[in-house]
Amino acid sequence: MRVLATMFGLAAALAGTQQAAAQAPDGAKLFASQCKMCHGAASTPAGPALKGVAGARVASRPGYKYSPALTAKGGTWSDAALDAYLAAPATFAPGSRMMMRVANPAQRKALIAHLKTLK
Ligand code: HEC
Repeated sequence: MRVLATMFGLAAALAGTQQAAAQAPDGAKLFASQCKMCHGAASTPAGPALKGVAGARVASRPGYKYSPALTAKGGTWSDAALDAYLAAPATFAPGSRMMMRVANPAQRKALIAHLKTLK
């Protein structure tokens, strides 16, 4: 009985893990579909390149003229700052030029993990 119960528990746990993996948003895919049109490998007038942005000073990517709002914000792009900006750019830095927002916290988390891979 006990063995059976353990096996059942394991199977349930495994199924749960697979489900979680299937449901976890894919940061690279999200970035490609929601961010890349403005954030390419090089900065353009549409947006700064985001290489190395995680952990960097706010508004410090080369080749982009930031809004006065984001320039004046200061600080560094910690996970918390990135999360707040992506959730509501206009609240984080009123006057910021980025119009895109990501309402889903799990998607923001996946996107931030992806930003850290842009080196
Ligand atoms: C329609 C164009 C557009 C889209 C789409 C967009 N952004 Fe932006 N993003 C901008 C602009 C423009 C800025 C600079 C804002 C400013 O100067 O106020 C910016 C700034 C940023 C910054 C701060 C960069 C820095 O050097 O301080 C981050 C981080 C960022 N975007 C992430 C994202 C992510 C992640 C997505 C996808 C979910 C995304 N952006 C989608 C236009 C866009």
